[in-house]
Amino acid sequence: MWIDLMAGAGLSLAPVGVAPEPTILVFDSGLGGLTVLDAVRRARPDARYVYAADDAAFPYGRLSEADLVARVLDVMGQLIAAHRPDLVVIACNTASTLVLPALRQRFTTPFVGVVPPIKPAAATTRSGLITLLATPGTVARSYTRDLIATYASACAVTLVGSRNLAAFAEAEMAGTPVDDATLLAEIAPCFVSAEDGRRTDVVCLACTHYPLLLPRLRALAPWPVTWIDPAPAIARRVVQLLGQGSRAETHGVLAAFTAGTSLTAPLRDSLTLRGVNEVTVESIPLRMQ
Ligand code: DGL
Repeated sequence: MWIDLMAGAGLSLAPVGVAPEPTILVFDSGLGGLTVLDAVRRARPDARYVYAADDAAFPYGRLSEADLVARVLDVMGQLIAAHRPDLVVIACNTASTLVLPALRQRFTTPFVGVVPPIKPAAATTRSGLITLLATPGTVARSYTRDLIATYASACAVTLVGSRNLAAFAEAEMAGTPVDDATLLAEIAPCFVSAEDGRRTDVVCLACTHYPLLLPRLRALAPWPVTWIDPAPAIARRVVQLLGQGSRAETHGVLAAFTAGTSLTAPLRDSLTLRGVNEVTVESIPLRMQ
């Protein structure tokens, strides 16, 4: 049920029971979720934020589905107990396309997930040639295949499961960027020309790490395309669930890492630039079955 808190002023719609300064936990396997955090913070600058990076298990794209479900449930249980969030954003396509039903079954906290932006891609393309760039895990999910069948059956969708791009984005943030030739080789399969002259004109960034590389991807692309980043849509969903809040920014971001082994000085600087004012390591080693 929703009530209008500021009916006369028409300022704020909030669901009953949501704190005026809610705590929002933004979760990813590493640094990719920072792209979602930015969008959500712009929409709700007054909220308290915890950014959780499960870097002990990075990259999620290489884990089996059973291992990934077990890992996310385990880590999420510890994060919810420690930070008591009002809402959790699973800022990771690789996890969201698999784990959301199990999370919603186990915890009462509301979850917002990030899934491949197939629907806006199908609405945007003029050539009918779309590429979905994601981790091998996301590309293989039946959830992803169902999204394509539902929303993009009239398009030719090229699936590119990148083994390295998430790690390249982490390297970029840590001040050790890969060279242009290496990056171009990783994205080259995204660009397809049909015999009739049509070319790929939309690329879905279906891993939250990839927008960290967007200026370089744009510069290296063999021809201009529309790159679709789902982060603004996630921010809108958060506001739908928690209400508008006030426009004042009142808190910095706490970043919690489950290993913290990659916390170099340049990475700490990048985190500071993104509003992180405290970094902790809440050690949760990965134990594979
Ligand atoms: N950022 C993640 C995603 O959106 C995954 C990267 C990984 O850990 O493989 O899919």
